Amino acid sequence: MGARRLKVAVSRKLPDAIEARLSSLFDVTLSEAGAPLPQAALVDLAREHDVLAATLGDALDAAFFAAAGDRMKLVANFGAGVDHIDVAAAAARGVTVTNTPSVLAEDAADMAMALILAAPRRLVEGVKALEAGEFAGWSPNWMLGRRIRGKKLGIVGLGRVGQAIASRAQAFGLSIHYHNRSPINPHIEEMLQATFWPKLDDMLPLVDILSIACPSTPETHGLLSKERIARLPAHAFVVNVARGDIIDEDALAAAISENRLAGAGLDVFTHEPTPNETLLAAPNVVMTPHMASSTVESRNEMGERVLINIKMFADGHKPPDRIIPGLD
Ligand code: DGY
Repeated sequence: MGARRLKVAVSRKLPDAIEARLSSLFDVTLSEAGAPLPQAALVDLAREHDVLAATLGDALDAAFFAAAGDRMKLVANFGAGVDHIDVAAAAARGVTVTNTPSVLAEDAADMAMALILAAPRRLVEGVKALEAGEFAGWSPNWMLGRRIRGKKLGIVGLGRVGQAIASRAQAFGLSIHYHNRSPINPHIEEMLQATFWPKLDDMLPLVDILSIACPSTPETHGLLSKERIARLPAHAFVVNVARGDIIDEDALAAAISENRLAGAGLDVFTHEPTPNETLLAAPNVVMTPHMASSTVESRNEMGERVLINIKMFADGHKPPDRIIPGLD
């Protein structure tokens, strides 16, 4: 008789190939849900399974872990960000949490670069004007945006995504400045010709574009505060592909409406799925619906990481993408 197959619950509909592979390896409860399940339903799944394959929006907070019972020992998150998971509460109950780093960094950086181009070059405004029949022919003074080449890009968080943004930005002639908890590997810093700013407040006044690429943690929540937004030059643009809560969204909206900031490109918002109405209505703000990792390739590779983490765990090894509380 073979060993008992691990019972795995999946909280959301995943790519078909991933679900098929999960089903071939484990005793799987799949989900047809396209949106997060209520916490009570997640608790019920946790109580009856060894592993929960969770994803963005699942409220896996301390209350969840307190109610989840003792059976579930792994939360394999489909996604890089784990701000919806109380990793410390999980660790305290002996639950390992894994994520899917790396595989989506290039696609997220492409989206950041698209927003870095789209906001200053008024891409969406131009498309809308054309669709509205407002194009009366080429004109010297119509639809003037701002040049990208030669400008300074400030990146908050020069991790995997931040570095992938920096290497693209270099090719567009932007100089790279960054703020991190600590400087990155000097070889990579040299390759990116990146300047480290130990204090974010010192970097803000000199950047033309600020790109947020750090994870959302208690330390980064509200990092781009009203006071820090006021330190940015009035001609600066803000781009965010990380998490909405890192920016004080109301302060950002006020600064843009009052022309204290030139505009923004935002893939993430504070109260997803509801965008801030002022930002949504602003012509100089490009908003996309949290789609930085939305490629077939990323989603399949994210699923592969989930599979690898669960399989390693099932085989008695430490899953490779463990989140260590305090080190994320
Ligand atoms: C993540 O992985 O955290 C992204 O925001 C969603 O793919």
